Amino acid sequence: MGIKQSKTTSNNKLKAKATVKVEKRKKFRSLRSNSNIQIITIDESINEAWRFTGSGKRIHYAKNSKYNNAVDKEVERLQKQHCFFKRIWQSNYSTPVEEKLRAGAKVLDIGCGPGTWTIEMAETYEQSTFTGVDYVPLFSQEMELANVKFLQANILDGLPFLDDSFDFVRMGLLVTAFNATELKEKVIPEIVRITKPGGWIEFMESDIQYFNEGPTTARLTNALSSFMKSKGILESLNSYIPQSLEGNEKIQKGIQTEEKTCFVGKWAGDLGKMAVEDIANGWTAIKAPLSKAMKLKSQEYDELVATFAKEVEQNRSYFKTWRFVAQKIGSTTSISDIITTTTTTS
Ligand SMILES: C[S@@+](CC[C@H](N)C(=O)[O-])C[C@H]1O[C@@H](n2cnc3c(N)ncnc32)[C@H](O)[C@@H]1O
Repeated sequence: MGIKQSKTTSNNKLKAKATVKVEKRKKFRSLRSNSNIQIITIDESINEAWRFTGSGKRIHYAKNSKYNNAVDKEVERLQKQHCFFKRIWQSNYSTPVEEKLRAGAKVLDIGCGPGTWTIEMAETYEQSTFTGVDYVPLFSQEMELANVKFLQANILDGLPFLDDSFDFVRMGLLVTAFNATELKEKVIPEIVRITKPGGWIEFMESDIQYFNEGPTTARLTNALSSFMKSKGILESLNSYIPQSLEGNEKIQKGIQTEEKTCFVGKWAGDLGKMAVEDIANGWTAIKAPLSKAMKLKSQEYDELVATFAKEVEQNRSYFKTWRFVAQKIGSTTSISDIITTTTTTS
């Protein structure tokens, strides 16, 4: 092949690669505005951070991790979950950083999963730069915008950033990833270290307990609760997360807690429908360890999840989700300037 011909071939390859990138980005954008969510396919087969359980199911793997979710279909589940929580909250964050984000801030999303939040924020606030980290690269480098970076890192081993690096650090739905001691002694100190003085920290979490729960829901939540306790994970997130944050000497006193109530079931309209799907997908994601702990066969566990979906309709079940907002000492704006709201979402 002559030099000219090989140049043309490599140009064509580059063009093809660029087209794939643009197409993937188009798909990704439609995800946010469209309730008919489109999913991006990421090659999950080559990831060494995922291990196979005895049943052949792949689950997250890191020596010190408490996170036991199946990774098959995890990208799709988390993308849908992002849309669900955004709909509950009607926003991507509660921290008073809008002005900073418009002016140009440095933002970190810990446990970013497929990076749905990160990319959505990066597209909204083009002046700011966003970094997503996850110890399992569910994100796709193909999705990178000029102001987004994704990195593979385990927060329990420390994050590869200098002290005082970020204006805003966010962590969403990592409840099953750390025990109480790890949260207080490793995760929060590491987040505080990399947050700038006066910078903001926000956690969004969801309660694992349901109100108006029927017997099957109770069976599943009790099993999950025992499973979490066996790993040292506490359930009372709405008290222990703010306490752990406030216990850090570099965090200002007065952690802001916001709460939303979400009804579960078709009886509660579109959002309730999304809730049943999201929760059922969640039960499926932790099927391998939970069915083992409950001594249930695969089919028996699936039947429980199907019964859960029916039961929430009869019982009109609901659950709570929280956002916890903290500020690192060294600020000019006081945390007491934030307005507290407790809203019921239907
Ligand atoms: C429920 S997902 C939440 C994804 C994303 N934050 C969202 O709100 O859509 C939790 C994510 O945390 C990641 N994770 C769990 N333990 C982690 C750790 N020790 N360090 C970094 N990421 C972790 C998991 O790989 C998973 O992608």
